[in-house]
Amino acid sequence: MKKLVVFYSCGGNTRLLAEDIAISIKADLLELKPEKDINSKGLFGYIRTGWQAMRGAKPPLKPLHRNPGDYDVIFVGTPVWAWKQSTPISTFMEDHMPNGKKVALFCSHEGNSGSTFQNMKRMSPDNEYIGDMEFFAPLKKDRIQTIASAMKWARSLMATVE
Ligand SMILES: Cc1cc2nc3c(=O)[nH]c(=O)nc-3n(C[C@H](O)[C@H](O)[C@H](O)COP(=O)(O)O)c2cc1C
Repeated sequence: MKKLVVFYSCGGNTRLLAEDIAISIKADLLELKPEKDINSKGLFGYIRTGWQAMRGAKPPLKPLHRNPGDYDVIFVGTPVWAWKQSTPISTFMEDHMPNGKKVALFCSHEGNSGSTFQNMKRMSPDNEYIGDMEFFAPLKKDRIQTIASAMKWARSLMATVE
């Protein structure tokens, strides 16, 4: 089975999870990059980014360097912004996600993931969702333990489909 881990990360937390999940299940990695950089730093950056997530913005992405359609299982990881998925992930789920795949979702947050997973599933409904898991931002707390549990989660999901 071909496996892909797709992610967007602004501050590195979701990237860390995505990289270790990919190692644990021997998957390829696809990092999403918006055409225009998103800066969520500082108060104004935080408010602007959160507002864009709240109103459901979908920023255009740079060309994807892997074709998700080539894979059987796709993990998708996002930071939580304003209780939702990040805006580049909205673009991916609506405009680039193929149908008919086995899909697992993960997110990193600092306390409340809100409707992140429900939204993502709604945006790309014609897939089989095999699991979802949220993680507290690993760069802020319990880095080693969080990575270990992410790797364990991914391997256990793969054991149910391989
Ligand atoms: C604009 C903005 C909005 C956020 N909203 C939430 C939120 O609603 N709930 C939450 O638990 N964390 C929230 N966070 C914290 C991030 O989800 C958390 O730091 C995440 O791990 C960042 O991932 P990254 O480092 O991969 O970008 C928010 C962060 C930003 C920048």
